[in-house]
Amino acid sequence: MEVMDLLRERKSVRTFLDKKIDDDVKDLLYEAAFEAPTAGCQMFYSIIEVKDERKKEVLAKACDSQMWLTKAPLVLVFVADNRRWNDLYRAYGLKPREPRLGDLWLALSDANIAAENMVIAAESLGLGSCYIGDVIERHEIVKDLLELPDEVVPACMLVIGYPDAKAKDRSKPRRFAKGYIVHQDAYHIQSAADHKKYYEGHFIKTDKEIDYKDTLKKFMEFKYESDFSKEMSRSARLYFAPFLKDE
Ligand SMILES: Cc1cc2nc3c(=O)[nH]c(=O)nc-3n(C[C@H](O)[C@H](O)[C@H](O)COP(=O)(O)O)c2cc1C
Repeated sequence: MEVMDLLRERKSVRTFLDKKIDDDVKDLLYEAAFEAPTAGCQMFYSIIEVKDERKKEVLAKACDSQMWLTKAPLVLVFVADNRRWNDLYRAYGLKPREPRLGDLWLALSDANIAAENMVIAAESLGLGSCYIGDVIERHEIVKDLLELPDEVVPACMLVIGYPDAKAKDRSKPRRFAKGYIVHQDAYHIQSAADHKKYYEGHFIKTDKEIDYKDTLKKFMEFKYESDFSKEMSRSARLYFAPFLKDE
């Protein structure tokens, strides 16, 4: 498939066929992740393949009780890894400094970029995937379950499998128009009128009247003001704390 067609057609998959992913296909997915750009070619990430059914259950529950993800044949947690290089330095008797916020930022970028390469490769191999951002929540549970040292922080979780008919039929959510997203030379704060133009233009028009304010209010309450969103920030603060110590 042409890359642009593939990108246009890719959509998140949350329901899977009961079909295993062969090891050679899995290896291609890992290869795709490893070929992604990476800061200084250091691959500041690790990937934890969660096979243990009990662990999958605990993770799904920790991720705002998204129990559907336990049905995915492949569950991967991409972690920003500021530990491996420092252990390597120490293996040669070197004394590296403690990792700091900038290191974590780079490592989170590395992990997410590698994950996205895998998403695209999965699509090209007839597989579907879905990111699970909620893996940032429940610091205590996830850290303990995956035995994460302080220098290793979850970036994202990916669930991958062969899409079932329901997943294939689901229509892909529309994106905002280019004018709302792309700025020229500097960040341009948009007017209330522009926000409304882009938000309302984003809906497919039918005969049914849309109450945009009410729709947006419900969205805000469901996402931005939700308990899971607050839990995410509480948990993120705990992951970040070891990187914020004084130099
Ligand atoms: C960082 C990130 C976190 C996400 N977390 C979740 C999640 O926890 N659960 C879920 O079902 N989908 C999750 N998604 C998938 C998005 O909901 C999805 O990408 C978005 O609605 C656009 O739909 P599409 O991927 O089908 O184009 C996440 C996506 C990203 C990029």
